[in-house]
Amino acid sequence: MAKTKTQFVCQSCGYISPRWVGKCAECNSWNSFVEERVAAGPENARALGARGSEAKSESRHPIRLSDISNEDEARITTGIAELDRTLGGGIMPGSIVLVGGDPGIGKSTLMMQMVRGLFPGSNTLYVSGEESARQLKSRAARLGLGNDNFYVLAETNIEEVLEAMRQMTPDLVIVDSIQTMYRSMIESAPGSVSQVRECTALLMQAAKTTGIPVFVIGHVTKEGMIAGPKVLEHIVDTVLMFEGERTHAYRILRAAKNRYGSTNEIGVFSMTGSGLEEVPNPSEVFLSERRKNASGSAVTAILEGTRPMLIEIQALVTNSSYSAPQRTVTGYDARRVAMLLAVLEKQLGSRLGHSDVFINIAGGLFIDEPAADLGIALAVLSNHLDLAIDPAACLIGEIGLGGEVRAVPQAELRVAEAIRLGFQHIVIPRANMKSMPKVAEKITLRPVAHIEEVRASVL
Ligand code: TYD
Ligand code: MG
Repeated sequence: MAKTKTQFVCQSCGYISPRWVGKCAECNSWNSFVEERVAAGPENARALGARGSEAKSESRHPIRLSDISNEDEARITTGIAELDRTLGGGIMPGSIVLVGGDPGIGKSTLMMQMVRGLFPGSNTLYVSGEESARQLKSRAARLGLGNDNFYVLAETNIEEVLEAMRQMTPDLVIVDSIQTMYRSMIESAPGSVSQVRECTALLMQAAKTTGIPVFVIGHVTKEGMIAGPKVLEHIVDTVLMFEGERTHAYRILRAAKNRYGSTNEIGVFSMTGSGLEEVPNPSEVFLSERRKNASGSAVTAILEGTRPMLIEIQALVTNSSYSAPQRTVTGYDARRVAMLLAVLEKQLGSRLGHSDVFINIAGGLFIDEPAADLGIALAVLSNHLDLAIDPAACLIGEIGLGGEVRAVPQAELRVAEAIRLGFQHIVIPRANMKSMPKVAEKITLRPVAHIEEVRASVL
């Protein structure tokens, strides 16, 4: 029996301290340390995993670089184009992929649907620590999944899982979720940093030695008290984050890390009664419910990775009955909106100080780039003045404190998407004009340097 030792581990970032401390020196979270007991010695997979993980399947001897074949290993396609793209072109054999996201966002659903599209005859081992085999069966039926090549293992002991993997040698393993798995040697509870890391490291080794790809589901928690994907990011090959608002249908799958592809790619899905549906044309969907010629609605082009997307911004400005008017923002940084309102007031003389302002990004998306500033400012102005924005206009630009319109990255991609969707009047920052290719005659590209010019152009 190996000796055990006690250590205190920050549950949000995994920092280890020999004694309890109130505040983590690494990630600054408070009260995040939990006592964990680990067995000391070489059996600890984390120690092995750290050096063994990359080279396990290769020989232990150094190999000359020129002797290594550079053919891309055959990837396994999942049949879901949005997922394949996010993975960098399919599943890499022997890779370990972490699928993170809020509980209830659709991670298990996505994994089951992925199985449906695999090569016929591929065997999948689905390790479920959360749902019973019967629950999985009813979900599989709902998703139209064949039963013959789908094996369910309701187990939370990682050693049993590895044993099943060795015996069955499936083509794919899914572990749902990593927070329910435990190794008996480690005394801390399932879900703690030590357990989560240890189990992932063991799965990593198994994936590398057998060449079987492993998908690991990990819940993200706001409180960070259950060890989440953060502490696993450096162990796994790929981290996919599944994001979205539970109350909305749209979901975005984002590669937060990818050893086998770009991290710029995203996949867009919509949750329906019969599972997740791919959204190959997100712009069309996000604009589908737009009321043209209504005041307070503006269209902008954002960039998700390398993918431009058009979205609708809605603003509502009403007289406030409070001494401190309300500012409610959904889908954008509220402080940035406060800044934009101040710019409108100062630069254009719009009196918004006694008005409630509501901003909403249609479709439940969250935009985290300032290129939507211009669209937001104009949506507010449009509703405030009760004048509709030209329905063929798309507004792209970041706004500075002086009301100046600043350049945005990849303006050409955004403009091309706007043109593709039939927008004929595209407002862009003057500084982006240099890099613009020629556009068709009926399309107007309107370069602007200050927000004042925009008002005259689209309202
Ligand atoms: P789930 O995949 O269980 O989420 P996670 O594994 O991330 O916790 O899916 C959660 C939600 O999705 C659940 O509230 C029900 C809904 N859902 C549908 O709307 N349609 C479907 O076909 C399925 C399977 C689930
Ligand atoms: Mg689940």
